[in-house]
Amino acid sequence: MAPMDERKKGRKARSNSSQRWLARQRRDPFARQASETGKASRAHFKLEQLDERFRLLKPGQRVLELGAAPGGWTCYVEERIRPAGLLLACDERPITTSGDTVVIDDLYGTEQTDKKIANILGSRPVDLVLSDMAPNISGIRTADQARSMELVELAEAAADDWLKPSGTLVVKIFQGDGIESWIRHMRKKYDKFKLVKPKASRQDSREMYAVAERFRAESFRTGA
Ligand SMILES: C[S@@+](CC[C@H](N)C(=O)[O-])C[C@H]1O[C@@H](n2cnc3c(N)ncnc32)[C@H](O)[C@@H]1O
Repeated sequence: MAPMDERKKGRKARSNSSQRWLARQRRDPFARQASETGKASRAHFKLEQLDERFRLLKPGQRVLELGAAPGGWTCYVEERIRPAGLLLACDERPITTSGDTVVIDDLYGTEQTDKKIANILGSRPVDLVLSDMAPNISGIRTADQARSMELVELAEAAADDWLKPSGTLVVKIFQGDGIESWIRHMRKKYDKFKLVKPKASRQDSREMYAVAERFRAESFRTGA
């Protein structure tokens, strides 16, 4: 066990970082707006802004959402695909939903999750894959960037498996090692590709969103 002084220092550092987080939440207009309007998270506004710009969501669509907890995006998507849409939301943490979303309470990237998704979708692919997946931050920049790139590639693989031809993939990325070559690779798979930072994304974070439209499924899947 760590000596008493070490443990006290650890507790103090954690409490300082929680206080900084609370102070930042109070200053943040989107966090305030989320709590005042009963949204599950401030992330709601990022998707709303992306949707306003790219017209991502329409009534009746089938959507696969990865990294859905606590549910800000989920509740937004539910509203936009009504009536008759289908949303599959995947996360190991609890997801707040306000509609008929099918919750997959597991991590994406495991065989059991794949089986659950296959059982629900059958042979009908989705119109849109959304990924807001993010790793737990360790503070070691190279390790965090490597983990975030793994999640980006997992989202790309989800679209390879479940997205219909001409469908759209939206994925959270963190600027850093590996992103430039991933973008070059994605431009070959999708007709349109843009990297954007919605206003609701914190200006001091390296977070951005890749919006890849018109999946070239046929040429890609047959390797043509
Ligand atoms: C930034 S939060 C998502 C916020 C959410 N979009 C919202 O609007 O409330 C990132 C989430 O990614 C999830 N995540 C990380 N790796 C994942 C994986 N392999 N499969 C599914 N979810 C994952 C985490 O559990 C976390 O809940």
